[in-house]
Amino acid sequence: MTIARKLYIKTYGCQMNVYDSERMAEALGGQGYVETTTPDDADMILLNTCHIREKAAEKVYSELGRFRSLKAERPDLKIGVAGCVAQAEGEEILRRQPLVDLVVGPQSYHRLPELAEKARNGARALDTDFPEQDKFDHLSARPKARRGPSAFLTVQEGCDKFCAFCVVPYTRGAEVSRPAERVIAETRDLVERGVREITLLGQNVNAYHGHPGGLAGLVRALSAIDGLARIRYTTSHPNDMDDALIAAHGEVPELMPYLHLPVQSGSDRVLKAMNRKHNAEAYLRLVERIRAARPDILLSGDFIVGFPGESAEDFEATLALVDAVEYGQCYSFKYSPRPGTPAAERPQVPEAEKDERLQRLQTLLRTQQRAVQDRMVGRETDVLFEKPGRTPGQMVGKSEHLHSVFVTGPGIARGELRRVRIAESATNSLRGELLEPMHAVR
Ligand code: 5AD
Ligand code: SF4
Repeated sequence: MTIARKLYIKTYGCQMNVYDSERMAEALGGQGYVETTTPDDADMILLNTCHIREKAAEKVYSELGRFRSLKAERPDLKIGVAGCVAQAEGEEILRRQPLVDLVVGPQSYHRLPELAEKARNGARALDTDFPEQDKFDHLSARPKARRGPSAFLTVQEGCDKFCAFCVVPYTRGAEVSRPAERVIAETRDLVERGVREITLLGQNVNAYHGHPGGLAGLVRALSAIDGLARIRYTTSHPNDMDDALIAAHGEVPELMPYLHLPVQSGSDRVLKAMNRKHNAEAYLRLVERIRAARPDILLSGDFIVGFPGESAEDFEATLALVDAVEYGQCYSFKYSPRPGTPAAERPQVPEAEKDERLQRLQTLLRTQQRAVQDRMVGRETDVLFEKPGRTPGQMVGKSEHLHSVFVTGPGIARGELRRVRIAESATNSLRGELLEPMHAVR
């Protein structure tokens, strides 16, 4: 019999970290660890960190400092740092923070049980290697417990693109794809446990090459799985949006009409300095082709303002591109210099300028997103219900276009996919009415 131990994981950053945290919890489950929602009663605390922007490492050190009193009370408490800060800082974390017992980089999670055991035996453990094997293949089999209706599934990791601002190629390493058979098997298993929607994850997911037909081939293979109603994927680079994937958007009904396709800037000069390897015109033409295949697709993007060398005119070009595309959802950031990346060494745009540009961009994006959301009113959509809403009898779920939809109705169950008419648009959500109260879709 294994001893019950409590594990608290705090996850920062992207959805790939969310997936990794699930897998880490499962891997440690074999040693009797059960997840808890507070650090206060934990036997092990893991911070799954993100290094993409701003003083990420400093934030991790200050978060760790907050566990000092817990560790003083319970010297057996083990503290670990995982994720991209672990990869970037490595041994430095053990040097600077004596509270930390283990440091594990994103490519070494299959070694976590071994590292945890070392830590429990009083040693300090570190693994930030980039091994050749698929880390997920060496993690324990997933437990058979029922799951929520929607799941993330990492299919690709790493990046070979080297955008001049980005740490990912350094923290996550070169592009690696998981073989399609394994992804298909894992999806089947998730579906048996109640999952109806999967989001395929990768830093460059559309560069996936674990299937002879690329990501499009994988999507088509997954769409044949009985009981899997929805497929999404994120995040994509414009240069990897091939014809087959664009065609899949028009032909595979399970592939949802939502695409995260970051462009970062609308200025050709800035795009070149960013090493994005395409210009604004190529992006706009690509958007046209995607919309020709799937006219109602909702586009989402990422933007960086104040990239080194970005002039007022360059910034205007970004606003013009946003105007031309009409995004339904966007994330926008001030450029933050990341140590070790080429752009960090270049002359920087003053902070006040970045602030002003971010505000202007976000105002435009908010207006645009609201307009796209408002246009949903009166339309029909399937909603995959996930959890109870704010009022009695209310449930909330996601539309095909990934909007949150609140519906009040008799007997809507978690995991059900129901046809809904959108009745009202509010800040960040929609309200819908059930169309077929007695029949679930599919
Ligand atoms: N500064 C600001 N934003 C960044 N991103 C990546 N690196 C940086 C950086 N150094 C943003 C990009 C990317 C998203 C995940 O984070 O927009 O698409
Ligand atoms: Fe970073 Fe660019 Fe790779 Fe995306 S494509 S992970 S922004 S280097």
